[in-house]
Amino acid sequence: MKVLFATSEVAPLVKTGGLGDVSGALPAALRAIGVDVRILVPGYRQVIAQLAQSQVVATFDALPGFPPARLLCGTMAHDVPLLVLDCPVLYDRDGGLYQDAGGRDWADNALRFGLLSRVAAVLGCNESPLAWRPDLVHCNDWQTGLTPAYLHFAQGSAPSILAIHNLLFQGIFPPETVSELHLPPSCFSIDGVEYYGNLSFLKAGLFYADHITTVSPNYAQEIQQEPLGFGMQGLLASRRSKLTGILNGIDIEEWNPATDPHLTKKYSRARMASKAADKEALQSRMGLNLDPGVPLLGVVSRLTHQKGLDLLLEIAPRLTGLPAQLVMLGTGEAQMQAAARDLSRRYPGKIGAHIGFSEDLSHQIEAGADLFVMPSRFEPCGLNQLYSQRYGTPPIVHATGGLADSVVDCTPETLKDGSASGFAFHGMTADNLYAAIQRAIGLYRDRAKWKTLRKNCMSKDFSWQRSAEAYRAVYLKVLARHE
Ligand code: ADP
Ligand code: GLC
Repeated sequence: MKVLFATSEVAPLVKTGGLGDVSGALPAALRAIGVDVRILVPGYRQVIAQLAQSQVVATFDALPGFPPARLLCGTMAHDVPLLVLDCPVLYDRDGGLYQDAGGRDWADNALRFGLLSRVAAVLGCNESPLAWRPDLVHCNDWQTGLTPAYLHFAQGSAPSILAIHNLLFQGIFPPETVSELHLPPSCFSIDGVEYYGNLSFLKAGLFYADHITTVSPNYAQEIQQEPLGFGMQGLLASRRSKLTGILNGIDIEEWNPATDPHLTKKYSRARMASKAADKEALQSRMGLNLDPGVPLLGVVSRLTHQKGLDLLLEIAPRLTGLPAQLVMLGTGEAQMQAAARDLSRRYPGKIGAHIGFSEDLSHQIEAGADLFVMPSRFEPCGLNQLYSQRYGTPPIVHATGGLADSVVDCTPETLKDGSASGFAFHGMTADNLYAAIQRAIGLYRDRAKWKTLRKNCMSKDFSWQRSAEAYRAVYLKVLARHE
């Protein structure tokens, strides 16, 4: 089976969040079970710079509405072939993938991701210049949401699936974009790409894809209703027989405390004593008091409303009195960044904040913290709570989306039956978060129970293999329907 995996980011080449992690790991896991996957990604400056040996495999000089582009072929880790869409006027620039350095969306995003969507569709239909033709195109989020629409109107098209990683981002552009991107005018209707008078890339994908997946079973249910459907709940509910939730896995080689090169000391279930050295190193790096006995809470996150960290910032002063320490790594909304910095100034030795993106520090927090905090308002899947379990750092989470699917709340029963793996709270309030943290710290003080909990966490299997099998099953179902 041949699958084109179209995505706007792929780790380790280019990543802003979980989509990058998934795009880096899932295709490799699919290849390991015999699916011939190739990844299509935009040729951002940093991607082109990291391409070792590449060759031009196609040129697109005359795609109506788009500047000329080329397709380069290289290879990713785990031998996954990588198709890079090279179009310097659209992708070779300073700043972020989706926004400029000032945090404003690039004005030509419709064209940038319209081209990505269009080329993915070209490769999946009779127009393709490549000998390798996918049996199915796997699209991800709004950036490739137009692919199913373009495929719908092309000849000899492969079927497509659209994977939702986050329904909040919908790729909405003014109505004239429809003609600019050379979509047929007829598709600008409620049964098509139109969304409250505008074009929505995401809606297009949800409407035209042969199947929809999302990144946890619980989120698949939540998005069929308000408020988490973010306006798409009606369409999603009407397509529920073609909507499947598959929990993300993690790259267990990259996220392995026994081999992680970012750690001061490596450790494993059998050698937990070494984790203390990583705690001390983290305290030292973040300017915290070198106290081995105080519970250290860690955060690695985009600092946005979705992640609910405003609640944590609100109760942070109370936490220092428990006592507890807090380290935060993240970037995002200016107000939250400022609040985190301010707390670290007001509580030196107790609260540390690093505003920025740091792969290195993110691993050190997973390892060095005692508990990981993730109070997301909504969370399609979430990866950090999976990493933290693997690192023996029980997560404290709001019971929503994939967090509810992947963290088993610690109670006397779940601790006894070996399933407990963290702390989950219901009701998105600062007091509920505070109570969950208090509960977690209470358990931390009970050394025997704490050891059991950490062991449970580290025994869980979040490897990609199971999820890859589930995707393959979806692919097979779609192909059978398409015949
Ligand atoms: P989302 O994709 O919604 O941001 P996920 O939990 O799925 O949330 O994935 C986030 C990924 O991005 C994780 O790999 C996490 O470690 C990483 N990440 C987020 N913020 C930072 C940061 N400031 N520095 C390093 N890694 C980060
Ligand atoms: C999104 C979601 C996150 C998910 C990730 C990868 O960014 O916010 O919950 O884990 O995609 O699927």
